[in-house]
Amino acid sequence: MKEKLRIIGGNRLEGEVMVSGGKNAAVAIIPAALLADSPSVIENVPDINDVHVLIEMLRYLGAEVEFNDNVLRIDPRQVDKYDPPYELASRMRASYYFAPVLLGIFKRAEVPLPGGCDLGARPIDQTIKGMETLGATVDTKGGVLVTSAEELTGGDIFLEMPSVGATVNSMLTAVSASGATSIHNAAKEPHIVDLANFLSAMGASVKGAGTDVIRIRGGRHLHGTNYTVVPDQIETGTLMIAAAATGGDVVITGAIPTHMEALSAKLLEMGVHITTEDDRIRVRSNQNFRPVNVKTQGYPGFPTDLQQPLTALLTVANGTSIVTETIFESRFRYLDELRKMGANARVIETTAIITGVEGLVGSRVSATDLRASAALVIAALMADGVTEISGIGHLMRGYERFDQKLRSLGAMIEHLRLED
Ligand code: EPU
Repeated sequence: MKEKLRIIGGNRLEGEVMVSGGKNAAVAIIPAALLADSPSVIENVPDINDVHVLIEMLRYLGAEVEFNDNVLRIDPRQVDKYDPPYELASRMRASYYFAPVLLGIFKRAEVPLPGGCDLGARPIDQTIKGMETLGATVDTKGGVLVTSAEELTGGDIFLEMPSVGATVNSMLTAVSASGATSIHNAAKEPHIVDLANFLSAMGASVKGAGTDVIRIRGGRHLHGTNYTVVPDQIETGTLMIAAAATGGDVVITGAIPTHMEALSAKLLEMGVHITTEDDRIRVRSNQNFRPVNVKTQGYPGFPTDLQQPLTALLTVANGTSIVTETIFESRFRYLDELRKMGANARVIETTAIITGVEGLVGSRVSATDLRASAALVIAALMADGVTEISGIGHLMRGYERFDQKLRSLGAMIEHLRLED
């Protein structure tokens, strides 16, 4: 079956919308739940395809899992396998978070190398270095991360860049290692802090998450816990940009405004009105956007995951914007699709030069990755006429009921399921 989104542009978004739980937090917390000796109940888990793949992996490994109304119950007591299958692991990036978890439980793990969005090379050398520093042997020949360790011992891990994946994997190894581990140059994203909070709730000693150095005292007995996943920073940002793009007036609820400061600063610079109160962010715009320059960085800098959605908005700004992508080498491919809609965009190495046009026109376009699909939805909401977006499997992987949420705000958006 082919799935498409059909969007008629030009409708102003208005009303209130609730943000879902964080994808990148949930996908780290879910494997971590296996480290406990009793069940965990995790609330606010987004109902997205990446979570469904993780649930299949949990069941394959022997866990008992129930998932209803965004509440995930994981009973890890019968887990008896350490080798999730390729067909599941290759479908998403976070599958390799099972490697340190299963290593901690079984002293051995065999996890096929991860998939996820194709954003250019996504090496895992820092994950390997972190695990080796704590005493594991790691081999990736044949496309499978095979790791084993008779004993894991705490140590100092120095990451060469603040990688989210390497920070998660180092944390998940360190909780099973005896003694103290320090992860230097750690990633500081909200999902790192959320994983640390979850591990602490399970009985682990984790300090400093959200700063450059995370300190973990490992080897403690971990128990199941009740936990609520942090709101999704990137979904919040995508909704903020969508509201601005349509000249709308939208209140996003259940959000954490401090996580949004880098984006809010850029939107304010563009002339968008933003007000915040507790967990609510109100976004209003008159569709008169000043151009801005943006450079992606790790948190608290401007997130690479919002580079694509914001660039869609810049295609209609009054002038030229310069967008520099410093995290991933191929995160500009969606610009080919935006050009079909009339955008004026040039790419020179890691920089995109976007010269605003009067307006975009509806077209047939194809999403190349998760945040590219969000960018195309935003472009389509602004465009004159009908846009059909194919390749929306990417969108389903990472945004919960995104089309429904936009429809509730007044967007003309239909999810088409067509026979081949
Ligand atoms: N890097 C290395 N070696 C490593 C690890 C990373 O060279 O061992 C480099 C990467 O090539 C990249 C940079 O370091 O240039 C940052 O990569 P990072 O490891 O931080 O990214 P990731 O863990 O693969 C996560 C998110 C991505 C998000 C990035 C950056 C998850 C499951 N994925 O990926 O999310 O873009 O951090 O914030 O948490 C998305 O949600 O659309 C998405 C792609």
